[in-house]
Amino acid sequence: MSHELPKVLIPENKIKQKIQDLATEIAFDYRGKEITAICVLKGSYVFFADLIRKIDLPLSCEFIGLSSYGDKTESSGEVKLTLDLTEPLQGRHVIIIEDIVDSGLTMQYLVNNLKARKPATLKVCTLLHKPDALQCELQLDYVGFKLGREFVVGYGLDYAGRFRNLPYIGILEHEH
Ligand code: IMP
Repeated sequence: MSHELPKVLIPENKIKQKIQDLATEIAFDYRGKEITAICVLKGSYVFFADLIRKIDLPLSCEFIGLSSYGDKTESSGEVKLTLDLTEPLQGRHVIIIEDIVDSGLTMQYLVNNLKARKPATLKVCTLLHKPDALQCELQLDYVGFKLGREFVVGYGLDYAGRFRNLPYIGILEHEH
């Protein structure tokens, strides 16, 4: 197993600034309302924790677990619910907080699943988006950074379970 660190693609200070911008936009759009923020495990917990602390509104947190990848770097297209929410969403203003939208199949599954629970509103916020890899129709309401098709790690994102603890978003240059 290599100990080489991934090359920096998006440094920590750029992520921090983007999170502040997203939080300001969300707080403005939802002013006067209470939000239910949904953290999509595992990948989005780092982004989620940083983002919600910058949103200056009453907010409750929910966690949902989805898995589509195993140890590969391409989506299997098969989405599995590994952990469900603990509260109903009926009548709530829900924002899904995701780390990355690649093929979009995970998000499409999640949006359909949550819509069926009858929230008052449902929006999607993703830190990263790979527009060229998208395989379905999807509305993304808040997007941090757009990427090419490269596989990225760090800031909650993993490759085979590793690199979630990197403070930046990086690219794997060699097979690890
Ligand atoms: P999608 O269903 O193809 O959009 O993939 C969504 C999930 O795949 C994300 O929530 C991530 O967990 C994972 N994923 C997609 N692209 C990457 C990447 O570049 N690095 C790490 N994980 C990724």
